[in-house]
Amino acid sequence: MRRPMVAGNWKMHGSRAANSALLTDLELRVKADWPIDVAVFAPFVYLPDAVRMLTDSSIAVGAQNVCAETSGAFTGEVAAAMLKDIGCSHVLIGHSERRAWYHEDDALIARKIIVALATGLTPILCVGETLQEREAEKTEAVIARQIDAVLKTNGAPAFSRLIVAYEPVWAIGTGRTATPDQAQAVHQFIRGRISGQDANIGGQVRLLYGGSVKAGNAADLFSMPDVDGGLVGGASLNAEEFADICAAAAARH
Ligand code: PGA
Repeated sequence: MRRPMVAGNWKMHGSRAANSALLTDLELRVKADWPIDVAVFAPFVYLPDAVRMLTDSSIAVGAQNVCAETSGAFTGEVAAAMLKDIGCSHVLIGHSERRAWYHEDDALIARKIIVALATGLTPILCVGETLQEREAEKTEAVIARQIDAVLKTNGAPAFSRLIVAYEPVWAIGTGRTATPDQAQAVHQFIRGRISGQDANIGGQVRLLYGGSVKAGNAADLFSMPDVDGGLVGGASLNAEEFADICAAAAARH
């Protein structure tokens, strides 16, 4: 049985005051006995505050990015060991905004997975196709390339220690959610790709859907057999809505 997960990606939003109010509210709403994992991904500078606030809670804290190098002369970067040091347990790797605006390619993303795993962080590997790629019927080719880059560099066992998030680029922040069937088709493809290397690991790996997940569509998406939860952007900035999405994941099994 795969434990559902809901991850809140705050992106470059928030302030000390806003985050404090959001997390206080969220802690009251997300019940510790719900059979799910919940994590919030705050901007780097707010991570220590988030870790402190959530110390005694069931909600984990993660970063939105990490450097592929372990330490040294890399001005402006943050190492995996530093994230671990301040109490982060998770890290997003290869988000489409990193791929698009900061030119992160599959090789760099595979290296980031290596350092995150070596440090004991749980990566959420983000994959997804653009609208142009979908319309050209290249969705599976793009997803295969993104997954294979990590399979090739890290091997199938890496997928027993990471989570995959399928986020179609055309659905991120657009209000245009993939239909449950569209999400399921790609999730099934991803699971099959990993199962092709190791059936056991493929069966166990958790696959989250991301892209305009809201309280109103979460239950339908999470009802699909290969959708194990969600990576939530905009809706994670509202405690009530994010908690409702978590409740939908908790009701999954
Ligand atoms: P969204 O973002 O929920 O605002 O579409 C999802 C993400 O980019 O992780």
